[in-house]
Amino acid sequence: MSMERFRAELKAFVDGLYEGEKKVLVYGEGDVGARVMMIGEAPGAQETLLGRPFVGKAGKNLDEFLELAGMDRGQLYVTNTVKFRPTKRSAAGRVVNRPPTQEEIRLFLPWLLREIDLVDPVCVITLGNVPLKALMGRGAVIGDVHGTFAYREERRVYPMYHPASVIYNPALKAVYRDDILRFTQWWRENSAKT
Ligand code: URA
Repeated sequence: MSMERFRAELKAFVDGLYEGEKKVLVYGEGDVGARVMMIGEAPGAQETLLGRPFVGKAGKNLDEFLELAGMDRGQLYVTNTVKFRPTKRSAAGRVVNRPPTQEEIRLFLPWLLREIDLVDPVCVITLGNVPLKALMGRGAVIGDVHGTFAYREERRVYPMYHPASVIYNPALKAVYRDDILRFTQWWRENSAKT
């Protein structure tokens, strides 16, 4: 199946499910034949506005870490677990982000798995707890498994913190840097073989 077809089917699924709600979908972006795929949580306001994943504040952090590791987005395929922005009303009446619900994650998981199979990367990097738990089960905890390789079926998975977590917890910056450098070291040693 082509990525165009995948997107059209996903859109039809969401339109049918949320009839009348007009959900704006943000699809994955990058090299559809990439050997490394990154999966985030869900798009935010900026991503929804521009129709691209990781273009807001978290995306800026992600780009900085990628640069540090000598990688760039052109080599990757970047997507999200949930493809629309989960929102709620704040006490002040503003539309703000909220974490995706278990139901939303459950609805999108089969699509995410199809998307992974379509891109067929050598390694999937999960960013934060949402894609980690979606792929590896609810018992997986980012604090325990970040920076180590795991497998979902035959697929290699490398969990990393979400790039936004560095905004809230600056102490994670060094951890994040170490994790991405560990990944690129592995990649340098193994990409020729894989
Ligand atoms: N956070 C995510 O998880 N994904 C995005 O696309 C943007 C922010």
